[in-house]
Amino acid sequence: MIPDEIVEQVRDAADLVEIVGESVQLKRTGTDFRGPCPFHGGTNRNFSVIPKKGMYYCFVCHEAGDVFRFLMKKSGMDYPTAVREVARRTGITIPERAAREGPDPREPLFSAMSVAHEWFAARLREGPDAVQARTYLEGRDFPMPVAAELGFGYAPTDGSFMAAMKQLGLAEPVLLEAGLLVSRDDGMVVPRFKGRLLFPIRDLRGRVVALGGRLLRPGEPKYLNSPESPIFHKGGTLYNLHDAKNAIRREGEVLLVEGYFDVLRLAVAGIEHVVASLGTAFTSDQAALLKRFAAQAVVLYDSDKPGLKATFRAANELLRHGVRVRVATMPPGEDPDTLVRGGGAAALAPILKDAVDVLERMVHLLEVKGWLHGVEHRRGALDRLLPTIRAASDPITRDLYIGLVAEKFGMIRAVLEHELESRPVVVPDRAQGAKPPAAGPAASASGHRAPPRAAPLREGARFERQLLRVFLAEPAWLDRARTEVPAASFEVAAHR
Ligand code: UTP
Ligand code: MN
Repeated sequence: MIPDEIVEQVRDAADLVEIVGESVQLKRTGTDFRGPCPFHGGTNRNFSVIPKKGMYYCFVCHEAGDVFRFLMKKSGMDYPTAVREVARRTGITIPERAAREGPDPREPLFSAMSVAHEWFAARLREGPDAVQARTYLEGRDFPMPVAAELGFGYAPTDGSFMAAMKQLGLAEPVLLEAGLLVSRDDGMVVPRFKGRLLFPIRDLRGRVVALGGRLLRPGEPKYLNSPESPIFHKGGTLYNLHDAKNAIRREGEVLLVEGYFDVLRLAVAGIEHVVASLGTAFTSDQAALLKRFAAQAVVLYDSDKPGLKATFRAANELLRHGVRVRVATMPPGEDPDTLVRGGGAAALAPILKDAVDVLERMVHLLEVKGWLHGVEHRRGALDRLLPTIRAASDPITRDLYIGLVAEKFGMIRAVLEHELESRPVVVPDRAQGAKPPAAGPAASASGHRAPPRAAPLREGARFERQLLRVFLAEPAWLDRARTEVPAASFEVAAHR
């Protein structure tokens, strides 16, 4: 059994035109491709490949399907073999675990999380000590029936959590590994969450994998989240994606907000295609995850300075993954929660309508600050825009960006293009502030990632090899690398 989400990921990453093109002479017609049907053996171009939908169809014999069906029909592969073949071509690794018989070794963790979450949720609904939490929610306009539906929980301040878990048969080591308990420096084992309102964080299959906990009074930290664990990788998770994914597909767009309450407020108001990045800097993995569901994103972060910084960071990450990004401008001091709480979905509509492309937003901000006047300023302004233009991996977006900036700055396109190419392309990289990975000698053979003029840097290849060795040294690291390190982040084809 290959997990559904991986099958989906492989299907999305597949180059259907290339795969079909190996056995069928295809010619482009508009956005589709046409050729003679390999299934009924016709000679006219009745066989159509529609890359946008990832589907093929024959107008004569009506044979139709996706890339997997094509390989099954054409090459006689069975389904898992077809999925594995396409995965191999796209550089996606299918976890061995999935192929093995037997239960997921992480099952006890999922189960502990689920049991604990249900207990916290019941505590919120019924606990006499949770009255403050219930009042808090009422005060924030989440009345109890709604709050219960949303899965809110309450972590009490007393020791009842540990006693209850023990009674329910959950062992301490599992609770520790799930991050529900923590071992203090003095050796005492205590609950991680105390006196907090809890938000369940779910994976793509809807399983609770972590909790976020908010203090009910001012204090630090305002939000405390579950730590990393075998079932929770913060940088690869988006809050609410499980509940939002169908809406995101339907809308062809995702709204990206900062916080838990923003997500839930919008969801309750009927705006379902919304996710949050869990307070961390938006990661490359999160961008890759979103790309699977939508080609467009609207960022609705705070419009203050840190909010803008986070916005542009997230935008660059999304652009690198070929997602188009618009930026919505919140009124000062408002977040999506406060805005929609006051005025309903209607209050957000004009703001979404006025959202502008991220590069246009940047240009506009620079313009307002007077950065488009005077040679010195203009040079500085340009340097701020270049990373975003470089980040745009979608060729059309990139071309539009070059055109826009060339026009704004009165530059000759070719000069701007030269400037863009003359520096290494920054490859998505989770390590903040890290230098762009260097291309190894083999990278020039593999081609498409490294810019053609990048000098052959043996060091980069060496580092990649060392990194692989580290991964291979420890099964647990290899497991994490499989989910957290996209194959594409290796420059050397063989390493990928
Ligand atoms: P904000 O501080 O903007 O809070 O953090 P908020 O979402 O508006 O929360 P309220 O309305 O004051 O309750 C945005 C998000 O950043 C993460 C949380 O996911 C939060 O929702 N965060 C924030 C943390 O993880 N830890 C913190 O200490 C603060
Ligand atoms: Mn808020």
